[in-house]
Amino acid sequence: MEIIQKPEEMQAWARAKARLGATICLVPTMGFLHEGHLSLMRRAAGLCDLVAASLFVNPTQFGPNEDLDRYPRDFERDMALLRQEKVAAVFAPTPDLMYPQGFQTEVRVKDLATHLCGKSRPVHFAGVTTVVSKLFNIVQPDAAVFGEKDFQQLAIIRRLVADMNIPVRIVGQPIVREADGLAMSSRNANLDPANRAAALSLSTGLQLARAKAREGVRSTAALHALVEAHIHSFAGTAIDYASFVDCETLEPVAEADERTVLALAVHIDGKVRLIDNGYVLPQDAN
Ligand code: PAF
Repeated sequence: MEIIQKPEEMQAWARAKARLGATICLVPTMGFLHEGHLSLMRRAAGLCDLVAASLFVNPTQFGPNEDLDRYPRDFERDMALLRQEKVAAVFAPTPDLMYPQGFQTEVRVKDLATHLCGKSRPVHFAGVTTVVSKLFNIVQPDAAVFGEKDFQQLAIIRRLVADMNIPVRIVGQPIVREADGLAMSSRNANLDPANRAAALSLSTGLQLARAKAREGVRSTAALHALVEAHIHSFAGTAIDYASFVDCETLEPVAEADERTVLALAVHIDGKVRLIDNGYVLPQDAN
């Protein structure tokens, strides 16, 4: 497995592989890998000849009071995991290589980035779409895999690629959960045992909304009241949003149908902000 720091060396690697006729699937990550990331690597391996992972904690997608400094990191462990997954190359640049002096370009998707996380994290998605655009230009992949846990991010990246005619196939990979239902996230490492219990309010809130919607409760105001009360019954939780939205436009909906996703962001003990999401009805229901 090659570990490459410099963008121009990564581009040279990608061009050399393309000349040999190999296709490349990129899995962009911020490291501190867990089973969810590994499922992305395995999906990528089934899509192209070679898997390239990127590992970069992108500073531009963190706001001034967010957890950039506390974002968990373990480079050596990540490299060992990626080697086991037979990843061909890892692009692991430093911030100054990605954003050298004089850097001043921003790539921004407009409306989709204003919903959900965009309200409380106003700079986040411009940071994501800028770095993902750079990663696509540097790694030159044929396909890229993103986790569905970051549901809004995936919708925004699909829009970016369509709007800008970027020749990369975007593939979403389902959420991987712990045995008790907690969606896997690098940020789970920052949960102490009490907070870990409160973190379950997201997945159980989602299950509650699903159960009620399937019993026939379709008013999202009614479903929201149930989910809100459920999450707040766990000590230390503060809801950033619990929104019933259309899966593509991310606009709020009044009546749940098969396109409706419940998107959740919850602060746990003021320290860790977790997200989760899921369709509230089976995809083929009316
Ligand atoms: O989902 C992530 O880990 C990040 O937002 C990404 C896509 C790697 C961009 O920094």
